[in-house]
Amino acid sequence: MITIKSSREIEVMREACQLAAKTLHFCGQNLRIGMSTEDIDKLCHAYMINRGATAATLGYHGFPKSLCTSRNEVICHGIPSEEDILKDGDLINLDVTPLYRGFHGDTNATFLLGNVKPEHKKLVDVTQECMMRGISVCGPGARIGDIGAVIEEYAHDNGFSVVHEYCGHGIGRGFHEEPQITHFGKKGTGVEMRPGMTFTIEPMINLGKRHCKVLNDGWTVISKDKSWSAQFEHTILITEDGHEILTLFRPEEWKPEDAKL
Ligand code: MF3
Ligand code: CO
Ligand code: CO
Repeated sequence: MITIKSSREIEVMREACQLAAKTLHFCGQNLRIGMSTEDIDKLCHAYMINRGATAATLGYHGFPKSLCTSRNEVICHGIPSEEDILKDGDLINLDVTPLYRGFHGDTNATFLLGNVKPEHKKLVDVTQECMMRGISVCGPGARIGDIGAVIEEYAHDNGFSVVHEYCGHGIGRGFHEEPQITHFGKKGTGVEMRPGMTFTIEPMINLGKRHCKVLNDGWTVISKDKSWSAQFEHTILITEDGHEILTLFRPEEWKPEDAKL
């Protein structure tokens, strides 16, 4: 079932999503070479709790932490750990999902640490542009397949591949609702978008081949060929005349107290 959110529900979604945007910005600003991904988890957890939210990932199907931290060849669902140390030249994706007043906001971004190779910088830029192109085709009457079509085209034009096994998703009271949003596909196919739908677009783009595997921890997804991978994610709302990016970071809304735990 695809839920259509009422205007009251959309108001709360907006708040949950803006908290997600601020949490991601806060965690990103606090990244330092030499710190562990466990350090980021502690910051992320405290940031959400102190603002009346909980971390939706914590305990989700047994996931043990308050965000996903996916470095280099890790595609998604990396588990924060004391042993996982940020190094010069790394790419790291932070994926945060606060649950606030009954609604989820889901957003992620890939950050560059120190002296990153040009091909990795390009991977990150292209992945962000893939997400933005996917968002740009969204509006009433468009179809879910339109998103994947533009993402796949832009990724392939740049010589990269699109991960198939993990997708965007409807979101609201549920973390993962219908429909599934694949990041590949055919224009004009799939569910038609309607005002009040909220879903994520979160392409995972690999420098090498698209294939992936899950490590023995049951969570960490890496590329089979160990090529590096990037991802960006926004939660969006379909409006009467187009779309709204609910998790867009708004610098003018960033207050001094937002920079503190
Ligand atoms: N935030 C991820 C998403 O974008 C889901 C993480 S689920 C977890 O859908 F269990 F791995 F945390
Ligand atoms: Co998501
Ligand atoms: Co996410």
